[in-house]
Amino acid sequence: MRRSQIPDCFAQELFLSALKSLAHALQAKDPYTAGHALRVSLLAKAVAQELGLSPAEVRQIGFAAELHDIGKIGISERLLHKRGPLTDYEYDEVMRHTMIGEQIIAPLMGVDLTVKEVVRWHHERMNGTGTPDGLSGDDIPLAARVVAVADAFDAMTSARPYRTSLSLDAARRELLENAGTQFDPECVAALVRLLAPHSPLAAYNNPGAYWCQTPFPHL
Ligand SMILES: [Fe+2]
Repeated sequence: MRRSQIPDCFAQELFLSALKSLAHALQAKDPYTAGHALRVSLLAKAVAQELGLSPAEVRQIGFAAELHDIGKIGISERLLHKRGPLTDYEYDEVMRHTMIGEQIIAPLMGVDLTVKEVVRWHHERMNGTGTPDGLSGDDIPLAARVVAVADAFDAMTSARPYRTSLSLDAARRELLENAGTQFDPECVAALVRLLAPHSPLAAYNNPGAYWCQTPFPHL
């Protein structure tokens, strides 16, 4: 059967199965990344919705966010699991996951620009000092700017073997201090609004409470 004869619904199933296989491969290699990807996806969708993006854009950003670190499949487990700070060389090695991820998904994502943008550019910074391309400001696609904020917030509020998590207030301060240099200020403002007292996200630094509350039934 030629590619053009494959029914759309079947092609879509194959496409989703391939992505699930990739996600499971990464989960087996780095269990932290699996939970992280899901939380970043939920956060990114909430931020996208707060920014007023369309439901289709919100869904697309959430999907892309789940795959944002897929390139870590190509990074050594020694580096992914290292306790303590990375050397400059090791940091550069880990950061290659953005380019590796783009190469992994390229054959699957021929038309899905959002996923490609998020996977390659979620570590770019507003002032142009990010990686891998040193993009700045609006040259960084909005989806990647949204995921960058969600990614950083989840990393700050998650405990790792080598450090404890930041409190919600400390994470919020960190985002605000770096708005405009590292992060898109509008994305930071949207997340800070979502963190207001009594909002579902305010329980975010208490993972047990967070997951039990099923905070985003509408997304
Ligand atoms: Fe990443």
